[in-house]
Amino acid sequence: MCGIVCAISTEAVLPLLIEGLKRLEYRGYDSAGVALLNKNGFERTRSVGRIADLEKALGNGINNTSTAGIAHTRWATHGAPTQKNAHPHLTPGKLAIVHNGIIENHQALREELIKAGYVFNSETDTEVILHEVDRQYQLAGDLYEAVRATVKRLKGAYAIGLISSDEPRRIVGARSGSPMVVGLGKKGHYIASDMAALLSVTQDFHIIDDDELVEISDDGVRITDLDGKLVQRDVFTSDQHAGAADLGHYQHYMLKEIHEQTQAVSDTLEGRIAAERVLPGIFGAQDETIFKQTGAIQIIACGTSYHAGLVAQYWFEKFGIACRVEIASEFRSRQHTIADNTLLVTLSQSGETIDTLAALKVAKQEGVAHTLTICNAPESSLVRDSELVFMTHAGPEIGVASTKAFTTQLVSLLLLVVSITKHHRLSAQDEARIVKELRELPAIIDETLRREKEIAALARLFTDKQHALFLGRGTQYPIAMEGALKLKEISYIHAEAYAAGELKHGPLALVDEKMPVIAVAPNNRLLEKLKSNIEEVRARGGRMLVFADDHAQINQTKGVDIINIGRVDNIIAPIVFTIPLQMLAYHVALIKGTDLDKPRNLAKSVTVE
Ligand code: F6R
Repeated sequence: MCGIVCAISTEAVLPLLIEGLKRLEYRGYDSAGVALLNKNGFERTRSVGRIADLEKALGNGINNTSTAGIAHTRWATHGAPTQKNAHPHLTPGKLAIVHNGIIENHQALREELIKAGYVFNSETDTEVILHEVDRQYQLAGDLYEAVRATVKRLKGAYAIGLISSDEPRRIVGARSGSPMVVGLGKKGHYIASDMAALLSVTQDFHIIDDDELVEISDDGVRITDLDGKLVQRDVFTSDQHAGAADLGHYQHYMLKEIHEQTQAVSDTLEGRIAAERVLPGIFGAQDETIFKQTGAIQIIACGTSYHAGLVAQYWFEKFGIACRVEIASEFRSRQHTIADNTLLVTLSQSGETIDTLAALKVAKQEGVAHTLTICNAPESSLVRDSELVFMTHAGPEIGVASTKAFTTQLVSLLLLVVSITKHHRLSAQDEARIVKELRELPAIIDETLRREKEIAALARLFTDKQHALFLGRGTQYPIAMEGALKLKEISYIHAEAYAAGELKHGPLALVDEKMPVIAVAPNNRLLEKLKSNIEEVRARGGRMLVFADDHAQINQTKGVDIINIGRVDNIIAPIVFTIPLQMLAYHVALIKGTDLDKPRNLAKSVTVE
């Protein structure tokens, strides 16, 4: 889970390498470095901390005029986040490498290389690749051939970029399991972990596939397979532009992205619904044929995306189709029985989460009937590996804590539920009603966002707390889980979610004045039961914060604060009630002063197991 950027250009590359690293910082941010090649060899600068720290370390070197270089932002896996372990790694004088991924057979290779006389300067698995390339380079005398021979020996995941002072106008990259794109600029050619890193210099890209190598030079770009056979690759022109990921007037990306949900939801719906129905073909040309045969749904995802899957389970089963939801890391590593005619649905913002990709592979090997992904990254591995595809149009999400990706996933899932269950229990009237609610959703979200001041004021209740409980019932149970995840990941307050009915089966023992309890209370048939749970907490002196539907009629009393969210139809309530929970987490973290766009120990795209 690191980010790499490499460049060969006719102009100085340092500014674009730094800009690229800033755009990739979401992938890892514990240390960073850059190696620039000039006629005297490599100039390397590395620092612990953020890209801003690297810029400080570069000091006067910031005006460096080198026209070739490689750079890296790290999320430590092998070896602590120290300067010594930061990339790029160098052999004495000749080779430099940047790497994103994990080499599983690093120990065996390391022992072999030590026996061959290599000295290791870091604890990283990456240095194993570097020395093996060096060994192969001495045999082949050619960087591309040396990298090709090396990657055949690697087990695990990698996106690597290497440059040699013997061949200063050439950079060789290779990919397996970690994302890689090549940017085609007017002044140069580039390699990076994603397109966003290069949008300041180009919108034209080649996407590199697993088990491919790429060579960039002044002459252009050459892509091959592991046998050295030339691969022809179309140019993909991105419709994103560099400014799309700018902060604008917001203090944090997370806040910007919370506020972008009105537009993101509206963009996700655009062209997908007609007056009273969901349009056919929006999941792919074959979707109607596949959906008619679909007898069960298996959803696989991680983290926030997993919570979206849990909400969809309630929706699918309400309208007559069996649905199972599983965390990808569990699914991929256990034996299971998949019913015939199962549609496997993966959910992912990034489309590069390694566990989700591996789970999809396992399901295909086990013969799952059909696969579909709901994803926010059009050129991601998950999109390329899935039969049916539905893009959430959330736009770039930079804040590590997922917000608009989640609500647009829920919208997408609701469209999927309608498209499939209309072949089961969902009536034409149900479909028309859901479409009407979806149409009104952006305006309702906009209205909900206006509660921010109220929520920010209540956030003060949490700042001296160590723990919090979140309660919900039905589709709001996964929303309570999502609220707890948001609070813990950015404010570092320990938070747990419970199905409200579970309260008296254990967690009630924890409730006292030090343990705030947050409940989501839409106006549905479970409301009366939830009201009883609220009383149970109140009776034990617990402090409660309730996000309630206007119709819920829950009274504000001592120790119970109510925030009314408006009148929200039950079907879209999980989407709407997510928003105040996101804002609550944001404002608690803001008061606590955490680095809330880049919370400690986390990274945006989890490309390691
Ligand atoms: C939490 C968060 C993570 C991701 C998870 C899956 O705010 O963002 O839990 O949801 O790492 O990532 P994707 O959706 O990219 O597969």
